[in-house]
Amino acid sequence: MEKFFSIAETFALPGVPKGVKIKGYDAPSEFTPPADPNYRFRRAALSDFLAWLKEGRGESLYISGPTGCGKSSLVSQVAAKLNLPLQRVSAHSRLEFPELVGSHTIVNGSMRFCHGPLARAMKVGHLFLLDEFDLLDPGTAAGLNGVLEGAPLVIPENGGEVIQPHPEFRFVATGNTAGNGDESGMYQGTVRQNLALMDRGWILRFTYPEPSEEEEILAKAVPDLPRLVRSRMVEIANEVRNLFVGSDENPGSIEVTLSTRSLIRWGRLAWFYRALASSGVNPFLHGLDRAVAFRAEPTTRKALHELVQRHFGDDNFGKGDGAT
Ligand SMILES: Nc1ncnc2c1ncn2[C@@H]1O[C@H](COP(=O)(O)OP(=O)(O)O)[C@@H](O)[C@H]1O
Ligand SMILES: [Mg+2]
Repeated sequence: MEKFFSIAETFALPGVPKGVKIKGYDAPSEFTPPADPNYRFRRAALSDFLAWLKEGRGESLYISGPTGCGKSSLVSQVAAKLNLPLQRVSAHSRLEFPELVGSHTIVNGSMRFCHGPLARAMKVGHLFLLDEFDLLDPGTAAGLNGVLEGAPLVIPENGGEVIQPHPEFRFVATGNTAGNGDESGMYQGTVRQNLALMDRGWILRFTYPEPSEEEEILAKAVPDLPRLVRSRMVEIANEVRNLFVGSDENPGSIEVTLSTRSLIRWGRLAWFYRALASSGVNPFLHGLDRAVAFRAEPTTRKALHELVQRHFGDDNFGKGDGAT
């Protein structure tokens, strides 16, 4: 059953008028993702996404932005709050069209056509999320052209079946680039998708959260972390991101970055390892190694350690007693 949700209450956004509503369902389906109790909706991104959900019938959405900045989780958390069924697929270079649309399979000894997640979403009106869209082989991507602009899906392999897009069907893709390949060399394997394809829908560009927002995200995820520790960690994350992206004269000087995802992981690990502080282990460095730095080249790891030491100095959660 349809249900209208107050945006202010559903997404915990103070300041949005109570009367503004968005359509969802009164109960989750088996395809509705679970809600993450620590998720904090960011107002600007959320309002763009809800606008597309409401008005975007027949139009696809592409969300670009750096790794781990909250693209996929926004889609799945909105689905969770509104009880929307979501079909989610991660693209990769060998993903082929039949995996999306369906193929013949043996069922009880005879061949039957089984619909793939995209065909199902179009037929019954689910939200469809294609992650890492820019890793998709351009041939496979081209097969999506029609679907992206609201055309019916034709499946020759299933006797020419024609699936008309259900009014509630929505197609959203995410990726690290804005569809023009990767000039920075940061995201290996991304493919320049053809322009016609990128022209077929709405585009949103996400960035990492503002420091104050990200401190709140961290506070929700690791509530025990002292406030000062949180703000230092967010500052460090932003410095690491700047080093990763670099500038025009000095492009990306390190090969790892600290996304919101790894920031949360670092916060959890640092808090966990605080118990070792009294035995001389620096919980921030110990946690950082395990969250990201062990993935880095030795020189980068050293630079990251120096960065942490510069911000935290001798502060070890008050040298082991957890007080800061
Ligand atoms: N607004 C947020 N509130 C809480 N956690 C967040 C938020 N944004 C990102 N995260 C955390 O970062 C992780 C990565 O986000 P995700 O949406 O998967 O990134 P990507 O941009 O790569 O799709 C999430 O699983 C979640 O733990
Ligand atoms: Mg993602």
